[in-house]
Amino acid sequence: MPTSPPLPVDLSGIRLDPALGLARQLYRALRERILDGRLAGGARLPASRDLARLLDISRNTVTRALDQLYAEGYVEGRVGAGTYVTELASIRPEPRNTAADPRPSAAMAYLREQHLPPPPDGAPRAFRIGVPAFDLFPFETWARLQARFWRRPPAACLGYGDPAGDPRLRELVAAYLRSGRGLNCSAQQVVITCGAQQAIALCAQLLVRPGDRVAIENPGYRAAGHAFAVAGAELRGVTVDGEGLDTRELAAIERCRLAYVTPSHQYPTGVTLSLARRLELLEWAEREGGWIVEDDYDGEYRYSGVPLAPLAALDRQGRVLYVGTFCKIAFPALRLGYLVLPPALVEPFARRRALDMRHSEIGTQAVMAEFIAAGHFLRHVRRMRQAARARRDALLQGWPEVPGCAPLPAVEAGLHLCVPVAGVARERELLSAAHTAGVEMNGLSDYWLPSEANGETARAGLVLGFAAVPEAQITEALVSLRRAWKLPA
Ligand SMILES: Cc1ncc(COP(=O)(O)O)c(C=O)c1O
Repeated sequence: MPTSPPLPVDLSGIRLDPALGLARQLYRALRERILDGRLAGGARLPASRDLARLLDISRNTVTRALDQLYAEGYVEGRVGAGTYVTELASIRPEPRNTAADPRPSAAMAYLREQHLPPPPDGAPRAFRIGVPAFDLFPFETWARLQARFWRRPPAACLGYGDPAGDPRLRELVAAYLRSGRGLNCSAQQVVITCGAQQAIALCAQLLVRPGDRVAIENPGYRAAGHAFAVAGAELRGVTVDGEGLDTRELAAIERCRLAYVTPSHQYPTGVTLSLARRLELLEWAEREGGWIVEDDYDGEYRYSGVPLAPLAALDRQGRVLYVGTFCKIAFPALRLGYLVLPPALVEPFARRRALDMRHSEIGTQAVMAEFIAAGHFLRHVRRMRQAARARRDALLQGWPEVPGCAPLPAVEAGLHLCVPVAGVARERELLSAAHTAGVEMNGLSDYWLPSEANGETARAGLVLGFAAVPEAQITEALVSLRRAWKLPA
């Protein structure tokens, strides 16, 4: 860290548009000034609190922008001890984009503004989010089924297939959902997708008109929000409390066209949407002619208590689009999921898919169909649930008392848990020490919509995925954490 007296810095001319991602804008503005030399190497940036006051934004927003600059090496030092611009010689400027588009589309402009974190690389580590126990996947069986399919693929399968998906797989998915989730649906309502994310994106493409209001859980799954925003939606964050999405707050949003929810296990808080709220949500959709996108991304993982019926099973008016995925039971790279749609929507959704990609790759669909038909799938679901429960228990039992951190909550479902932390500064401190010690976890403050109001009210916390690695690795990670967080062994 530089020891010379701090150089004065000129931050004039930074204008942030409150309608766009503030942290991203601030990050870009500072990076631009570092690269063009307006912020010289060795210059000390104002403290995050002062910067927040100067720019009239939340400190949380400033911290996020600075974190990104740290991660990319543009600044160095530690919050608290001062933040310095890295000496220019060690910064490699990005090549200039000579083909800048003077009139980018709204989607292009939105995507440029957003910080979309890259997927974590390398083999899973404790406590990676969104990853099931894929070390337990029966690859031998899968390989055998693949080999059998490809040795003599039916000629009828090798041309262009049904954009709604392989008919046999659609039948089997419908049968599984009828028996496993109490969802009385037919194969004709099922559309196979490339994972839950594509299912959500299709909903956005087909149900949202530019300027429509879309309600999303706040905090929530940001990639769903992005999919709706790219389709032109005006995002409205709705509070999540102990019963899930606050339906009264939803009802107060005028002209809201669609609500995206994760009812079985809210992402990331882990709350289950209560039955009363489920009924209120359906009433809202019926009254307003709104759509509900029900993302049941980890619906297979319930460890105790009675699972509540999915919204789609309670829907009498055809307002719910149900999203499911194989990626949390098998592995994310499989890219296989499905939608269960009100009958009238199937045709347009299939046509849209045909335009995007024609259909999903046939081998994976056919092999998954055989995997389900031969009983491997249900066996694997049971095994995955048991493994996730054991891994959850290893985390719950070994978790230490951490100053500024609430005790771990009871975890009845899902693949992750969320533990509240007293303030974003403490959250960042814990995250930074954990990452340095090689332990992955996410900050709850990153799951909020980046609007000013939320910046101020955002609750902080740690979001921990517990299924990614076996118990022994969880125990090792907990030892590293105790050391990193300077807790008694
Ligand atoms: C809430 C939620 N929905 C959907 C997805 C995406 O799932 P898929 O891999 O099937 O696209 C994720 C991924 O982590 C998620 O957390």
